[in-house]
Amino acid sequence: MGLPPPLRAQAIRTPTGSRSEENPMRRPFIAGNWKMNLLLPEAVRLAGDLRERLRDLSDRDVAVFPTFVAVEAVARALEESPIQVGGQTCHPEDAGAFTGEISAPILASAGASLVIVGHSERRHVFGESDADVALRLQAALRHRLRPVLCVGETLEERESGRTLEVVERQVRSALEPVAKDGLAAVTLAYEPVWAIGTGKVATPEQAQEVHAAIRGMLRDMGGAVGEDMRILYGGSVKASNVDGLMAMTDIDGALVGGASLDADEFARIVRFEAM
Ligand code: 13P
Repeated sequence: MGLPPPLRAQAIRTPTGSRSEENPMRRPFIAGNWKMNLLLPEAVRLAGDLRERLRDLSDRDVAVFPTFVAVEAVARALEESPIQVGGQTCHPEDAGAFTGEISAPILASAGASLVIVGHSERRHVFGESDADVALRLQAALRHRLRPVLCVGETLEERESGRTLEVVERQVRSALEPVAKDGLAAVTLAYEPVWAIGTGKVATPEQAQEVHAAIRGMLRDMGGAVGEDMRILYGGSVKASNVDGLMAMTDIDGALVGGASLDADEFARIVRFEAM
């Protein structure tokens, strides 16, 4: 199976941002989403292994997103290290009768400083709407958790030429309700659903095309956000393909799933080392 087709030429908007090396706000950010993997002792061991391998890191940001029950132990294992810890989602409310959910203040109290919102698995497997995602993002900001907002189209949406329409709806519905000063805490992640866990990484050019369009949408929203917001790419990122992606003007980092579960592989991804 080949890659899905490129976007229609007329749909592509052109603006591109300055390279991250030229804008300190956009220093590289590599994040590992552990999803529903690793028993508690395995999560703590992986955190310790990453701590060893990434202890000298100073020119980029790194974060891991363990399961809820592992957040506190992983945060402890990474104390005084450059690696930050986050949750994989948070509920819009701060507390209450929401069995099985987790709130932003609970995550923060366990040592999280970040949270993913709107991951495609939350949208498509658990039915989170754009409106839910917007409220979850606002809850994160209220409790000083830095949100990583995920957006991305399904294969069917790409093949029917609706990639930018879908991504624009996801970006605007989540970010327009947020005050300008709140936006500085947000990171975006473009994760085409067809590239997640499939081994089908978008080509650097396919990813750049959408990242540039997203940067155009952010510029339309005004303020510094268009230039300064980091946009990560996610979907089958590995050590062997990260440097090609990071060479693109509007790709500021990566949100890594499967390959973040292996300490050696993730450390190589963080350093953009193919071998
Ligand atoms: P994979 O890297 O396993 O494709 O997962 C990507 C992802 O969903 C990260 O949030």
